[in-house]
Amino acid sequence: MIETLVIRTEQLRDFDEIRAVVKTAFAGAEHTDGDEHNLVDRLRCTEEYLPELSFVAEVKGEIVGYAMFSQINIGMSKAIALAPLAVLPAFQNKGIGRALIETGHRKAKEGDFYCSVVLGSPEYYSGSGYLPALPFEIEAPFEVPAQFYMVFPFKSRLPHGTVRYSKAFGAF
Ligand SMILES: CC(C)(COP(=O)(O)OP(=O)(O)OC[C@H]1O[C@@H](n2cnc3c(N)ncnc32)[C@H](O)[C@@H]1OP(=O)(O)O)[C@@H](O)C(=O)NCCC(=O)NCCS
Repeated sequence: MIETLVIRTEQLRDFDEIRAVVKTAFAGAEHTDGDEHNLVDRLRCTEEYLPELSFVAEVKGEIVGYAMFSQINIGMSKAIALAPLAVLPAFQNKGIGRALIETGHRKAKEGDFYCSVVLGSPEYYSGSGYLPALPFEIEAPFEVPAQFYMVFPFKSRLPHGTVRYSKAFGAF
């Protein structure tokens, strides 16, 4: 872990730098639609945007990582989705992604959210406590191999059903 790492919520003055970080991180990603930096901008214009759950990772005053959790619904219940998570290539594999997730979960537990869902690598997200969503009967509103859709519970009982995302994610 980097000693000078600071995780804090995003501020208006960070937005351009965040855009560049997300774009650069996903340029080398295995799975990307090349639109993640635009997704962040779109989400900020919706009711599902949660500024208190949008985090930058800073090293010596430079933003090197970013995580956004936005509100989703499962039935009538409130939950959050982690998307995107991005760390600049030069700073990857130093625990920054995990630190962003952990900070987000800690903060989210103060809210009234049932769980966090994520679409991504099971190898990576299981390391942060994410579990397959299927046994919880929580389903994505789009086609995805089951192992890539995961959930991190904040409560002992979770709602079940199909996840409803912000319109910022586009139509599925
Ligand atoms: C995925 C990403 C956010 C991880 O951030 P990071 O700061 O490098 O991750 P951490 O240092 O916290 O975790 C590193 C660990 O995860 C593993 N890991 C990293 N990326 C992985 C991947 N794509 N699949 C599986 N494991 C991965 C590493 O091997 C390492 O394991 P270890 O702790 O057992 O040694 C970063 O690689 C990234 O920005 N990638 C490009 C964008 C992207 O793909 N985002 C995720 C979309 S779902």
